[in-house]
Parts: sequence; C-alpha cells; structure tokens
Amino acid sequence: MSRRLAVFASGTGTNFSAIVDHVRAGSLHADVVLLVCDRPGAPVVERARGAGVPVLELAPRRFASKADYEQTVLDRLRLYRVDVVVLAGYMRIVTPLLMAAYPNRILNIHPAYLPEFPGKQGILDAFHAGVAQTGVTVHLIDEGVDSGPILRQVRVPRYPEDTLDTLEARIHGVEHELYPAVIESFLNAIESEGQ
Ligand code: GRF
Repeated sequence: MSRRLAVFASGTGTNFSAIVDHVRAGSLHADVVLLVCDRPGAPVVERARGAGVPVLELAPRRFASKADYEQTVLDRLRLYRVDVVVLAGYMRIVTPLLMAAYPNRILNIHPAYLPEFPGKQGILDAFHAGVAQTGVTVHLIDEGVDSGPILRQVRVPRYPEDTLDTLEARIHGVEHELYPAVIESFLNAIESEGQ
C-alpha cells in the first residue's frame, strides 16, 4: 500500500503542521498529498501552501447539497490517489458517501478522553466540568459524532491553577505528538494486514 494522506481541516491547522513536520523528520512514513479545507481563507490553507501541499478549498454552502460537496471532495481524493483521510479540526460531519469510499480509513482526533466530552467544545466542556484530568483520543470515524472505534487515547491532567488557555496548550501539545504516532502505527498495521 502506498501511504498517501489527505488532511481535512477547517481552522488553525497546528495538527496539520505537526503531521507535515513528522513526515519531514522521518518519524511518519507517509506523504501528505492534499489538504481539504471547508473554510476558504482559514489559516491552515497558508500552512499547506507554505509546506507545498496542494489545497482543495471549498465553501460547502455553494453546493446544492452536502452530497454534491462530498462528491467533489471524493473526486479530488481519487485524483490524488489518497489512501487514508486524516481529520484534523474538520468541523463537519463526514457523510456516508465518503465513509463508503474510505471504510475504516478515516481517522479523527478529539481533544478529550472519549466517550467523555464529545462534540465541538471538548476542551471547554472539560474545563467547565472541573475534572482533574481530561485527554486526547484518536479514533476511526463512523456515522456518529466522535463515536467510532478508538485507536489510542491518553490522559492529560487539568491542574487547579489552569486557565482555559493553559489547558488548551497542554492538550494541543499532546495532540501534536500523539496524532502522527498513531497515524504511523495505523499505516503499519494496515500494511502488515496486507490490505
Ligand atoms: C484540535 O484540538 C483537534 O483535536 C480538534 O480540533 C482542533 C484542531 O486544532 N478536532 P488545529 O486546527 O489542528 O490547530
């Protein structure tokens, strides 16, 4: 199997950059062949351009339907012969069209210890809940929200003196090491299964 990744992102793109950095450093044996961004002008787009990664930048509302949008994305994934899709801050539900094209080949990172604190505000929710620890989870996606099979998760402490900013920074720091490592293990596993 080749190891051609498409990263899907909507925002800042620090995880995108972490993945690209690990590829460059030789700790992630893969090629990031495409960034898909559903928010034209998001900072992640500049990161991709700076890294020489082709970008598909689309505004879903310009499409007649979600299915039309995803079909356009899927056509591009096929053009770039993408093997695995990596969601990294992609604020959109992936529909069955893409899931059927990439069964068990779409990963997501969530900034909490699932099933604790699913949804769009995992860090904020954990912060407000006053828990002593939260976490980071990498999982395969299914049709639910943050509900697919878990590949790996780690605990991250929340200290009493934490502000939302310090907690966020700690979680992102963990994400930037965890995600590339789990992607590498995942690619190794599917390769050794001969799939
Ligand atoms: C990360 O916290 C990730 O877990 C969540 O969205 C955030 C994306 O951050 N799904 P960035 O755009 O990679 O900086």
